Amino acid sequence: KAGALWGGRFAGGPSPELARLSKSTHFDWQLAEYDLRGSRAHARALAAAGYLSADELVTMIAAIDLLAFDVAEGRFTPAESDEDVHSALERGLIDRVGVEVGGKLRAGRSRNDQVATLVRLMLRDHAASISGYVIELIDALAEQAETNFDAIMPGRTHLQHAQPVLLAHHLLAHCWPLVRDLERFVDWGKRADYSPYGAGALAGNTLGLDANLVAADLGFGAVVENSIDGTASRDLVAEFAYITAQIGIDMSRLAEEIILWNTKEFGFVTLDDAYSTGSSIMPQKKNPDIAELARGKSGRMIGNLTGLLTTLKGLPLAYNRDLQEDKEPVFDSIETLEVLLPAFAGMIATLTFHTERMAELAPQGFSLATDVAEWLVKRHVSFRDAHEITGSLVKFAETNALDLHEVDDEALLAISPHLVPAVREVLTIRGSVESRDGVGGTAPVRVAEQRAALVERVRKL
Ligand code: ARG
Repeated sequence: KAGALWGGRFAGGPSPELARLSKSTHFDWQLAEYDLRGSRAHARALAAAGYLSADELVTMIAAIDLLAFDVAEGRFTPAESDEDVHSALERGLIDRVGVEVGGKLRAGRSRNDQVATLVRLMLRDHAASISGYVIELIDALAEQAETNFDAIMPGRTHLQHAQPVLLAHHLLAHCWPLVRDLERFVDWGKRADYSPYGAGALAGNTLGLDANLVAADLGFGAVVENSIDGTASRDLVAEFAYITAQIGIDMSRLAEEIILWNTKEFGFVTLDDAYSTGSSIMPQKKNPDIAELARGKSGRMIGNLTGLLTTLKGLPLAYNRDLQEDKEPVFDSIETLEVLLPAFAGMIATLTFHTERMAELAPQGFSLATDVAEWLVKRHVSFRDAHEITGSLVKFAETNALDLHEVDDEALLAISPHLVPAVREVLTIRGSVESRDGVGGTAPVRVAEQRAALVERVRKL
């Protein structure tokens, strides 16, 4: 039982089957640096409360530093006999400083309050790194919007041509959900700013340790108000997993469009060679694998969130070992995003847009019909009548295989006396786009404002 954190009341060690089941070092080792940070803070709290002498504290901190160095260098790793990261690191500490001093560190803390704290510390770091990658993606999209600012594309609803929009407007529409994801991380951070350290197994500690000292040392703003909540809740982990899943979904929706745009039929984009893949049998192929992996991996992150929520559902208070299952899903989502986001941003940054092709398709499918109806409204025709008149125009054009602007003056007047030749002002995609100048609309003036507002929103985070 060398190195086990428990065993006094047991007749012998755990069965090999139990040891194998119980083991978590293959994933919770990722918490090692946070565990050591927590140990330094805890040692200081023990010293402040008189449980370690000044000399012992110096010895202890030096040993923790040495251990941290060995962990970082890969010289100290979990042994087969270590149940979890906490047991492994206590073994490492005692190896370095001896059991006399090393054996004192565990007073007044439990793995339950430790692990709850360490996960928060780790998630805070990754909220920052993932946010950095999300900002790079937003930048890549905003940059493309800027480069292709004049481009007009067919805007769609139900995947059918609806109304022409600026490509920039469409690309920025993909940025805003990502901006909200960044804001979600910031907001999550406020709730994650409470330290569970000092909550003990569930009920708090008897040693008079200053939990505020530990919290401040670890960079938390405050201590959890309830030790049971501090050790037993994982809603913050689930919320984090939700944010990662939402980022995955936001990318997946864009990914789906890129896959479509990259088809021969659409022909809207060409992917850079460095961000596309080939086929092992078809020499001509160039595939949008990054976009497909983004779409696929969003499912994986949704699965991680769902699995985590399912683990939490129905768990009685306080700590239960089920809670150990919180880590792998959220760790996996972190790793997934930290690999996916840079590749995805690179794919976006290097996309070539075929703006002539977009412009060619933009007026098709009678996408300017709403413009005709609204032009009539501006001339004081009721919208009901305007809709009806424009509907007849579309029907006429469709029957005669014409586009709206190809219907001649005579035919226009025959459909309605309101359809005078001046209606042609709105029968160009540029005129259509420029006329949608209400707040948040696709008119270039508005889109330019929008882009500035986006930059400002990200700057304010
Ligand atoms: N590895 C556990 C977890 O991640 C912490 C250990 C708590 N174990 C215990 N028997 N109370 O939740």
